[in-house]
Amino acid sequence: MSTDLTNSAAWKSLEKHFREIEKVTIKDLFKLDETRGTSFVTQEAGIYFDYSKHRVSAETLSLLFSLAEERGLEAKREDMFSGRKINTTENRSVLHTALRAPKGSTILADGHNVVPDVHAVLDKMAVFAEKVRRGEWLGFTGKPVKNIVNIGIGGSDLGPVMAYEALKYYAMRTLTFRFVSNVDGNDFSEAVQGLDPEDTLFIISSKTFTTLETMANAQAARAWSLKKLGSISAVARHFVAVSTNEKEVVKFGIDAENIFGFWDWVGGRYSMTSAIGLSTMIAIGPENYQQLLDGFHQIDVHFRTAPLTRNIPVIMGLLGIWYNNFFGAQTQGVLPYDNYMKRFPAYLQQLTMESNGKQVTLGGKRTDYQTGTIYWGEPGTNGQHSFYQLIHQGTKLIPCDFIGFKETLNELPSQQDYLIANMIAQGEALAFGKTADEVRAGNVPEELVPHKVFEGNRPSSTFFLDKLTPENLGKLVAMYEHCVFVQGAIWDINPFDQMGVELGKVLAQNIIPELQDNEKPLNHDSSTNALIGFYRK
Ligand code: F6P
Repeated sequence: MSTDLTNSAAWKSLEKHFREIEKVTIKDLFKLDETRGTSFVTQEAGIYFDYSKHRVSAETLSLLFSLAEERGLEAKREDMFSGRKINTTENRSVLHTALRAPKGSTILADGHNVVPDVHAVLDKMAVFAEKVRRGEWLGFTGKPVKNIVNIGIGGSDLGPVMAYEALKYYAMRTLTFRFVSNVDGNDFSEAVQGLDPEDTLFIISSKTFTTLETMANAQAARAWSLKKLGSISAVARHFVAVSTNEKEVVKFGIDAENIFGFWDWVGGRYSMTSAIGLSTMIAIGPENYQQLLDGFHQIDVHFRTAPLTRNIPVIMGLLGIWYNNFFGAQTQGVLPYDNYMKRFPAYLQQLTMESNGKQVTLGGKRTDYQTGTIYWGEPGTNGQHSFYQLIHQGTKLIPCDFIGFKETLNELPSQQDYLIANMIAQGEALAFGKTADEVRAGNVPEELVPHKVFEGNRPSSTFFLDKLTPENLGKLVAMYEHCVFVQGAIWDINPFDQMGVELGKVLAQNIIPELQDNEKPLNHDSSTNALIGFYRK
């Protein structure tokens, strides 16, 4: 039985169109339309988005836009921006866009304007960040704090780490930043190597303040600090928290004054612009942080108001649907040509896969179509020397996003040109390849010809921005956030819960006492019993 989506008129038209265009190559499309390289481009909010090297014609795009219209994308988008409880399984609004709304705007959640609350927290963060940056936040023994360790996991870690790495150029270099996420004690132990508890501040970032990993690492941090500092009252000078759970934070010993709050309408993986960004703000300063928020906001406005045909997240999302659901592509490569962006793919993995890795519709029906694409990637040019081989000549179709910046932050003679030349060349090679005749023209022995052929026809998008600034980073993240929304809306799933992470957590809680007590009887399957037995021995 088909679902509403696969039964819809727009879907059926796309299926028919797919059969017609499936064999048409990117090379053919460029031959048919000589202006394609400039007409399949959108320049909005300072982003040059080239989607010409995709296996789509103007008709494909028009059918995809019709699909978006038929699925009520615009109304769903408005529901999100206006605070309707679109996270239906948790009965919550989804208002990460309110986190970057300008002072004075009005956004209602349950009839309450949340914007003043957002700015009150931002102001409090700024006061704190400035104190740390000016050396005025003193530890228990009177020394200014110099080291900041963020403890969190998932959305309470990936955003802060990614932003710190991406914006390191703007960071205050006299401060040291470290990030701990894994429950593996090696992570914490390495993070505090060489640090002195007297000038180290821990930010415990956890929306729930109950997450096993974060709580275990927070306890380890407290023990590490108190071993040197002696008194329990030191906790208040060396620990602050970012959380929605004030009760548990206070129980831990953190001063209620030093809690930076946020709200249940901010999902973990959408929390980068909430107080979870505290370490980022300390690193780059409140002014740069405001630029980051402004970048996010510009894309929020663009996504909300631009017509579908010029709307970057809409086009990205629909192209993703085209490959995922019609070409059967399983994955999407994200290839930033900027080394500062090295954690961006990891950040996107949670954003995209925890959001759209769902198999039931909002109405609870099993989908009869594929959902969440697998996101992965590495910065160029490093990836070129590892996995690009498979993208060029392997048997899998992997659409790629190239991301580049015109200006470099650290000028070294020619290297920026080498970098960007490589990015542009990869898109060209993927799309147009090299035919057997072209290979032969290079006097290649006949037996090697098939090995040297690049069949091309491999799709990619290129996103070009001026420079890696806080503002532009904000734009890029918001662009992917809204792309996820578009796809969730088409697939009729809820991108804002994450029930799939629960079972493993519960089972781990059952196994912990079984590892600690060799006598406990084991009642799992034979493999699980044997693994526990192996560990016990
Ligand atoms: O386990 C998944 C998850 O709930 C993520 O969605 C979230 O970002 C992460 O855990 C951390 O949660 P918290 O901030 O509550 O510690």
